[in-house]
Amino acid sequence: MKTTTEKFGVTPHQPSLWTRADALKVRADDPTTTQPLVRADFPVLSNDVFIWDTMPLRDLDGNVTSVDGWSVIFTLTADRHPNDPQYLDEDGNYDILRDWNDRHGRAKMYYWFSRTGKNWELGGRVMAEGVSPTAREWAGTPILLNDRGEVDLYYTAVTPGATIVKVRGRVVTTEHGVSMVGFEKVKPLFEADGKMYQTEAQNAFWGFRDPWPFRDPNDGKLYMLFEGNVAGERGSHKVGEAEIGDVPPGYEDVGNSRFQTACVGIAVARDADGDDWEMLPPLLTAVGVNDQTERPHFVFQDGKYYLFTISHTFTYGDGVTGPDGVYGFVADSLFGPYVPLNGSGLVLGNPSSQPFQTYSHYVMPNGLVTSFIDSVPTDETGTQIRVGGTEAPTVGLKIKGQQTFVVAEYDYGYIPPMLDVTLK
Ligand code: FRU
Repeated sequence: MKTTTEKFGVTPHQPSLWTRADALKVRADDPTTTQPLVRADFPVLSNDVFIWDTMPLRDLDGNVTSVDGWSVIFTLTADRHPNDPQYLDEDGNYDILRDWNDRHGRAKMYYWFSRTGKNWELGGRVMAEGVSPTAREWAGTPILLNDRGEVDLYYTAVTPGATIVKVRGRVVTTEHGVSMVGFEKVKPLFEADGKMYQTEAQNAFWGFRDPWPFRDPNDGKLYMLFEGNVAGERGSHKVGEAEIGDVPPGYEDVGNSRFQTACVGIAVARDADGDDWEMLPPLLTAVGVNDQTERPHFVFQDGKYYLFTISHTFTYGDGVTGPDGVYGFVADSLFGPYVPLNGSGLVLGNPSSQPFQTYSHYVMPNGLVTSFIDSVPTDETGTQIRVGGTEAPTVGLKIKGQQTFVVAEYDYGYIPPMLDVTLK
């Protein structure tokens, strides 16, 4: 019998495994895979809003694209509430940490523009209030479709549920700035199915989000990566020999790591426009290793597929650990097998002295990595912190075969274009 995947001309594949043995190779503070220390005196993009996940405007091949000389980024954004009685502590001072930690519940898509690829100017909300069907507008990808300025914004509509959606609008430029117009009709694309990807009914802590559509450089078809968890009731997953990998004696005990079931999902479009999608089995699973492989994305380089995904210390399973940061895997073909970069998967982690300094790293095809500042200690003991909610310094990576190296640091939020499109 032909599987549904074969029907769409896609070769059936086995997910690659990020094993516990791979994760045991993670070395925090290796200078070649550690983000330079972020100073506590960082500048803030805006005193009115927090920003976190940053999504540069790009084309379907992954190239960061400016329009008429304007760079554009989209960000998850939430108002700051310095004067709201709800966010004052007992002494009447603004409890910025509580405000920051509550941000996910009120996340909205905003856009920013710049002539220089940094010093971003706030454009505003992409969709007017009431357009998006749920409370939270979570991460995704803005795609510039053509020189008429049409943009497909893929994102995640969350609470209730978690649905991968898209909304089409247009980017308009003038001498003075950029606006996003016409993002008015949100189209639901798909949700977790419970067979390949875990549903909310199977696990209240499920993850299903962060669409990243792309054109495969080899077969030319339209696909999409996303974050998921492996289907099945919470607690029912098995961490067996394959998930454990080749561990030394004494490392066989998997503890309660069956609760960690992250995967990188993939879907293929049935149409040229990306309105009709079919989910395929995950590209990569991390059962017994980690519960979140967020914001998966590719860099296509040297004929290889470099798959990057962000993850946290707190989402690792028992007996394995690593820093918050971006992890990577490489394969010679889209469906793998994928091998962890640098042996372990770790590509760029936070230094152990500042474990929460940055997150949500996005590796661009030019090797530049953008992220946001979460919080940075302001004293020796790390008890006092400064909350960010702003762009971190960009880091330069060299990607070579199965290895990566930190080689440069740039200005805060430096996201230069790789292509410029002149709008007609
Ligand atoms: C990463 C992330 C995304 C999600 C968003 C929610 O920082 O967890 O996976 O879409 O933040 O705020």
